[in-house]
Amino acid sequence: MVSDQEILKVTDLYKKFPITKGALLKKEVGSVNAVNGINLTLNESETLGLVGESGCGKSTAGRAILRLLEPTSGKVEFEGTDITTLSRGEMVPMRSRMQMIFQDPFSSLNPRHTVGSIIGAPYEVQGIKPAGGVKNAVRETMERVGLNPEHFNRYPNEFSGGQRQRIGIARAVTLRPKFIVCDEPVSALDVSIQAQVINLLQDLQDEFGIAYLFVAHDLSVVRQISDRVAVMYLGHIVEQASRDDLYTHPYHPYTHALLSAVPVPDPKVEAQRERIVLRGDLPSPINLPSGCVFSTRCWQAQDKCHTDVPELQDMGNGHKVACHFPIMEFLGNSLIIGPDSGMTEQPDRVVPPPSEVLQSLQGGRATRPKGIDYAEGEEPI
Ligand SMILES: Nc1ncnc2c1ncn2[C@@H]1O[C@H](COP(=O)(O)OP(=O)(O)OP(=O)(O)O)[C@@H](O)[C@H]1O
Ligand code: SF4
Ligand SMILES: [Mg+2]
Repeated sequence: MVSDQEILKVTDLYKKFPITKGALLKKEVGSVNAVNGINLTLNESETLGLVGESGCGKSTAGRAILRLLEPTSGKVEFEGTDITTLSRGEMVPMRSRMQMIFQDPFSSLNPRHTVGSIIGAPYEVQGIKPAGGVKNAVRETMERVGLNPEHFNRYPNEFSGGQRQRIGIARAVTLRPKFIVCDEPVSALDVSIQAQVINLLQDLQDEFGIAYLFVAHDLSVVRQISDRVAVMYLGHIVEQASRDDLYTHPYHPYTHALLSAVPVPDPKVEAQRERIVLRGDLPSPINLPSGCVFSTRCWQAQDKCHTDVPELQDMGNGHKVACHFPIMEFLGNSLIIGPDSGMTEQPDRVVPPPSEVLQSLQGGRATRPKGIDYAEGEEPI
């Protein structure tokens, strides 16, 4: 249940990576503009999905929010404190309340440490002594995330990918944080295991009231777990709305393109669909396009789009879009092949309306028997 208590507020966050030249006197000759002035909020127990194609700045945004990367400018308020002004020492206690789960369950765990010491490390870092001792507390957390506490002394390489991700999740929730950045936590896992890990994250959210910033490029996964969704393109948030509004009434051309690429499990619906094909690659974040960042690939672009930056405007009900010409209606049976305007073709096949397509996507929380269930090969260890 999402609370109305705001826990995180990000204002005008920028992260640039300097490009330097010269071995000794490093001269700055440019910068990679990875995150370009994003604004977002998160309430207690809420999940905000952050989607966009590879290289658009999702991970950098997540890390800058946690100050694992130092933001170039902007403000991150967590539980009312502006953490961008805190010293390293002052950040340490904050870390017990803000955590991260990484994409790769293989490289994110130290192979030389036992599972018990990995999951118990936050107690040592924070100097916290739990009642009953660290070992008991770690075993309790292991049990909570579906790991066998008897395997306290085993090493990460003795576990499967799904089990390793459970270890990563256990480490993140050891100190019962209130906010976790989940950076593509299921992308490296088999589909059957993905659902179990998502169910686990949702159970932990319900139990401990955790807010998630859930980074992913898979829109079906984001739809399953998110309360709200933000769409990112070249370091900008171009659309933000409640999950249902975004998936049924997207306004931004880029969101339409992303949604048209989501596979639908119903073969009849899938056979009728057309994709919106975006021409060209994501432009370089070193030289951002002038005006709207999407203008080089947008089939709707007009003169104004190449000169004026569109601000995020509220279309009602908190549904925000950054576009001079938001798409107000369903795109009909058009096969849109941008970037040139006027290139809309009329194919023989008809594109089903988004509502029909999206009904076929599994919506809401994944259902399963109460407690943690295991697919074949994913039994508790
Ligand atoms: N340490 C760094 N130094 C220089 N550039 C970087 C650094 N880290 C990331 N970048 C650049 O910043 C941009 C955003 O990268 P980021 O990893 O945040 O994207 P992403 O959306 O998470 O992509 P993916 O979906 O592939 O994980 C990319 O162009 C990337 O090359
Ligand atoms: S502002 Fe113009 S270029 Fe940008 S998304 Fe909207 S129509 Fe396309
Ligand atoms: Mg990433």
